[in-house]
Amino acid sequence: MNTELVACDYHYLKEVDSTNDALKKLSLQKDLPEGYCLLSEYQTSGRGQYGNQWDSEPGQNLLMSLFLRPIFLPASEAYRLTMSVCLALVDLGKFYGLDTEIKWPNDWFFQGRKIAGVLAESSLRGSRIESCIVGIGINVRQSEFKHPLAISLSALTQMDLEPIAVFEKLAEHLDFRYRQLKMGQADLQLKAFIQVLYGREEWVAVRRNGKDLKMKCLGVEPHGALQVLWADGSHETLQHQEISFLF
Ligand code: BTN
Repeated sequence: MNTELVACDYHYLKEVDSTNDALKKLSLQKDLPEGYCLLSEYQTSGRGQYGNQWDSEPGQNLLMSLFLRPIFLPASEAYRLTMSVCLALVDLGKFYGLDTEIKWPNDWFFQGRKIAGVLAESSLRGSRIESCIVGIGINVRQSEFKHPLAISLSALTQMDLEPIAVFEKLAEHLDFRYRQLKMGQADLQLKAFIQVLYGREEWVAVRRNGKDLKMKCLGVEPHGALQVLWADGSHETLQHQEISFLF
């Protein structure tokens, strides 16, 4: 592996309940090195954000979890890890010739279609983050999905991609972005993250409390709240799950 920290050590399982859950268990049994990754061909209980299920056909997609010890981050800034990982995904998109975006707070998108999702779960020690397990699910070569917006990287690039090859490339970008964060470049990453937000340059449709509205994304706060401009000219800061994007 062409990395200094991420995926210097990793393990590939045929089947697991959830790579996030299995890695969490492993981290409680063993002193895992930072950057350790657990991958699986298939998850029986894959989890998405907000208690959703994450479904993936066997062997078709990248299902991975990354173990980090971001003790340098205050607990209130855990979202910086999601931002870092999202930037690595956008970097990966560039490598495959795609100009991708992030749909706040944690979805990797290309022209209104979802390629991947991120699920970062932190364990705190006092006011610091002791460890974080970052789950990443990338649609690599699956051709049919239950979710109407889902699409694979192979379909978008017209390439016949393998999950392990995507993992090796992604590991390089994760390595770069995580070390950049660790070296104190959090604000640079925040600026870069805002540049790749879906809805930054054009008005986008969202639903809030049953109402359809238009807004633009102006910025993100270190703890993850989204600063928006509504079509009526007012500004507001939104917390996770306050809106859903309409496509
Ligand atoms: C989302 O978009 O809601 C986040 C999806 C995260 C899915 C990945 S797949 C690997 C890891 N293990 C899990 O159970 N979930 C994450």
